Amino acid sequence: MIESDKSGQGNEPAVHCRGVTRSFGSGEARVMALRGIDLDVRHGELMMLVGPSGCGKTTLISVIAAILDADGGECRVLGEDLGRMRQAAKTAFRRRHIGFVFQSYNLVPALSAAENVAVPLLIRGEREKPAQAAAVRVLEQVGLAERARAMPDQLSGGQQQRVAIARALVHAPDLIVCDEPTSALDHRTGHALMQLMRSIVMENGRSLIIVTHDARIFEFADRIAEMDDGRIVAIGAPEQVHAAVPPAVPVPAPEASRSGGTAA
Ligand SMILES: Nc1ncnc2c1ncn2[C@@H]1O[C@H](COP(=O)(O)OP(=O)(O)OP(=O)(O)O)[C@@H](O)[C@H]1O
Ligand SMILES: [Mg+2]
Repeated sequence: MIESDKSGQGNEPAVHCRGVTRSFGSGEARVMALRGIDLDVRHGELMMLVGPSGCGKTTLISVIAAILDADGGECRVLGEDLGRMRQAAKTAFRRRHIGFVFQSYNLVPALSAAENVAVPLLIRGEREKPAQAAAVRVLEQVGLAERARAMPDQLSGGQQQRVAIARALVHAPDLIVCDEPTSALDHRTGHALMQLMRSIVMENGRSLIIVTHDARIFEFADRIAEMDDGRIVAIGAPEQVHAAVPPAVPVPAPEASRSGGTAA
């Protein structure tokens, strides 16, 4: 197994959260987004995170991805104690080791698809030509080679989503964190993407956390953690948690309604 320098930290899981809390605002407007999260994600594991809107999923993965600071508790990621890191070190750590797919994609409007995907490589100092070439290779993997030069506003929602996924994969991060990565994708494209992500995790011992409402992709998870009101209320294999978690949003893809949920 090929491991980059931050995977394989002995027996320590890739992500180790204990009692993680986070609130927003103050006084009467205070919202407790995370009320004490305990969660481990192993190296080579694909963990899905499900739960109703507003229960804290994005907040939790933002803390794990070192984008947002926790208020309390312990969060160790790839052997680093995030609570003890200075902001500059955190930023460097995030850029090097973590790939993040935002719920809202966050593509840079003035950059083409390939230029967007190349950003993580350019940030870490790679030269433009090889970075662009690498970006196009990942765009190929997500089925977008022919749209590499398109600008974000010339792409469909599902295509923009795949550009965002390619950008999260291009620098081969040890931990990939995705917020609803298949929400704009039809069944077949979503499945192909999950197969790609699954193979990346299995071949390279990386870890993947995917927030999703999409029951059609639950089968790709090693485990599913169910959140409610800032807490993890259940965790287990997909078939255990699957029954407890009906899709929170109606599935929009026409393929899904035709197949009557029998896709497997
Ligand atoms: N920057 C913020 N300022 C104030 N409140 C916030 C902020 N970010 C999140 N919250 C609140 O924290 C709670 C958790 O939000 P979060 O975005 O983590 O939910 P979520 O589970 O990702 O929901 P969804 O499925 O709708 O994306 C919500 O009540 C939300 O309104
Ligand atoms: Mg969210």
